[in-house]
Amino acid sequence: MVRYSPETGSRRMVSLALKCEVAAVSLPDLVRRTLRDEVLSTSAYHVAEAAGMVKLDAMENPYPLPAALQEELGRLAARAPLNRYPDADATRLRAALKASLDVPDGVQLMLGNGSDELIQVLALACARPGAVMLGVEPSFAMYPIVARTCGLRFVGVPLRADFSLDADAVIAALRRERPALVFIAYPNNPTGNRFDERAIERIIAAAPGIVVVDEAYHPFAQATFLARLGEHPNLLVMRTLSKLGLAGLRLGVLIGAADWIAELNKLRLPYNVNVLTQLFAEHILKHDDVLREQAAAIRSSRAQLFERLQQVPGVHAYPSDANFILFRVAGADAVFEALKRGGVLIKKLAGSHPALTDCLRVTVGTPDENAAFLDALAAARAS
Ligand SMILES: Cc1ncc(COP(=O)(O)O)c(C=O)c1O
Repeated sequence: MVRYSPETGSRRMVSLALKCEVAAVSLPDLVRRTLRDEVLSTSAYHVAEAAGMVKLDAMENPYPLPAALQEELGRLAARAPLNRYPDADATRLRAALKASLDVPDGVQLMLGNGSDELIQVLALACARPGAVMLGVEPSFAMYPIVARTCGLRFVGVPLRADFSLDADAVIAALRRERPALVFIAYPNNPTGNRFDERAIERIIAAAPGIVVVDEAYHPFAQATFLARLGEHPNLLVMRTLSKLGLAGLRLGVLIGAADWIAELNKLRLPYNVNVLTQLFAEHILKHDDVLREQAAAIRSSRAQLFERLQQVPGVHAYPSDANFILFRVAGADAVFEALKRGGVLIKKLAGSHPALTDCLRVTVGTPDENAAFLDALAAARAS
């Protein structure tokens, strides 16, 4: 339909046929008939506008890097070879991550532009016709979004009412659905709890394909399946630097047997981890004690915030091993809006899943931010 124009010898594109066809349909119709149904029927992941707010909606670390480290990064940025593509294999950064994350010998790392990208790579790799991704519900919203947009059917197995993992129900679903891919967030988002290790072990043993234990919140739980990689050939562990304090860098890590990583690497786009991310992450990891201290501060603030939340009349807070707390409160929609008017942005989960009726999720911030949130919550409850 697009033709080369011989008269001028230039690469002028003549799109007569295309113009005629396109003229006959409206643009929305053209979009609808061109794109896949899975794309058209999916809602984009919603990111709320947060300018000027106390931002407690996205599980970010509230602490900046120390000034001296920021200055070192500034100097590194000034000399960064931005005219060159990054190291496609990020060899030095992978070595630094291997040491910092205490990755056992004999397994490989693959890096993503955030762990979101790694979820997508895994889904693309498994998307045979009819393939299934299995997860629990409620859990991380991106699992079903990525599954559907990559052409997998998503099967969600409900958690129990107390948000614990129903291993028998998951194993029954594994036998019925034969998923190529299973995601278990450990601790789980948005519920904040860490599922029973034994239950996860049983699921890994019963799964017919890959089980990814997504340890995004590891800095706040300090429990890991990394040491079990050698025991289960179908286990992969996923980490991210986002929650540790580097959300802006976008760096996720998938860890597993070389046989998996070598194949999955074929789907990773070349240069997916940019020059600045590689430079900065490698340098910051030399000072990873800073990030670990910040995580420790967040863990102790979490305990205080949980205690204070429990004291708010009408609020039921769920214990958390992550850097956020899920809580239930009557009229959650109105409470969420009142908090927003009071300048505090948290996450509204009510409406996203039946098990999350009247649920809100607050990220653990600095002590001042947590106090601002609690004051705004008290004011919202009183109004
Ligand atoms: C369980 C879980 N996994 C993965 C991610 C994605 O993290 P990243 O910033 O590395 O894409 C999140 C983000 O909230 C998450 O909650």
